[in-house]
Amino acid sequence: MKILGVESSCDETGVALVETTGSGVPRLLSHALHSQADMHQAFGGVVPELASRDHIRRVIPLTRQVLAQADVNRGDIDLVAYTQGPGLAGALLVGAGFAAALGLALGRPTLAVHHLEGHLLSPFLSADPPSFPFVALLVSGGHTQLMRVQGVGQYELLGETIDDAAGEAFDKSAKLMGLGYPGGPALSRLALNGRADAFALPRPLKHSPTLDFSFAGLKTAVMTQHHRLGPGPSPQALADLAASTQAAIVEVLVHKCLLALKQTGLRRLVVAGGVGANTALRSQLNAACAHKGVRVHYPELTLCTDNGAMIAMAAAMRVQAGLAQGDRAGSFQVRPRWALDEVCA
Ligand code: KG4
Ligand code: ZN
Repeated sequence: MKILGVESSCDETGVALVETTGSGVPRLLSHALHSQADMHQAFGGVVPELASRDHIRRVIPLTRQVLAQADVNRGDIDLVAYTQGPGLAGALLVGAGFAAALGLALGRPTLAVHHLEGHLLSPFLSADPPSFPFVALLVSGGHTQLMRVQGVGQYELLGETIDDAAGEAFDKSAKLMGLGYPGGPALSRLALNGRADAFALPRPLKHSPTLDFSFAGLKTAVMTQHHRLGPGPSPQALADLAASTQAAIVEVLVHKCLLALKQTGLRRLVVAGGVGANTALRSQLNAACAHKGVRVHYPELTLCTDNGAMIAMAAAMRVQAGLAQGDRAGSFQVRPRWALDEVCA
């Protein structure tokens, strides 16, 4: 069965084709992506109306591209999956409306996918896919969650951020340092030249026994240190602040992952979402987990941030698990706010 996946929840338009395999891991046939980062850069963040307009422009050419790349005719698509939420309402409506229209035109069902389930299952697209059960760390621009994952559709929330997400901490710190948008990759590049112990920054909730996170106070501490540097800080001082900020975020994430593994007794960790692309996080998690005999799995670097492949993959895994068949009603709705436990089997 060939499944087209469409992602349009925020500032990336992603389309992909995945094929189910019966009992094995579904196979990625092709994927195409357009990032709007350059367009939003001038505004220092995502402008929802501009995001929606750009998704409309991109979604059909990207679909043509993935069909051509995979040498598949549109009539051979068996199911059209799309991100139903969470995300920006207008942006989500573009993907949902396109999927419904394509489904109607082809006489094929559509399947609504939860964006975070897409991230969570994205490591199955990698050359070294995990197996169930595992602990998942979901770190994106909007979410920071630890989950126990028993199987497809079996997700138990162990802890999450009580305020800002880890990606938000990267983005907001980068913004106040004048690094532009999106800040995570820029801040981590700058951090390469800095000393991680140059500034004493807090490690919020690190020593609490829960698996919750808090990053709002860290952002305020970064702001205070940045003010202290005065106008026109030296490049070295900025690099030191970037490295210290990254170190604080990474240290808390690594510590809570180890705590979640200890509390659940599980020996496998999956990291997903945009912040999962961070090299400092990857190297420190790898070192800490190797020490404990825990296997860590990541999505391919290019599939850490939003993409259509993870949406097609989540749909394919749901279909193979017998949890979904798709919907032929031709109607659609989006869910800008949508908790992951609502899609549990
Ligand atoms: O998963 P994603 O593409 O979108 C959401 O669903 O939110 O994640 C985007 C987030 C942004 O906050 C971005 O700054 C962060 O992931 N990010 C990074 C890196 N690459 C992306 N943060 C730190 N280091 C990176 N290399
Ligand atoms: Zn995302």
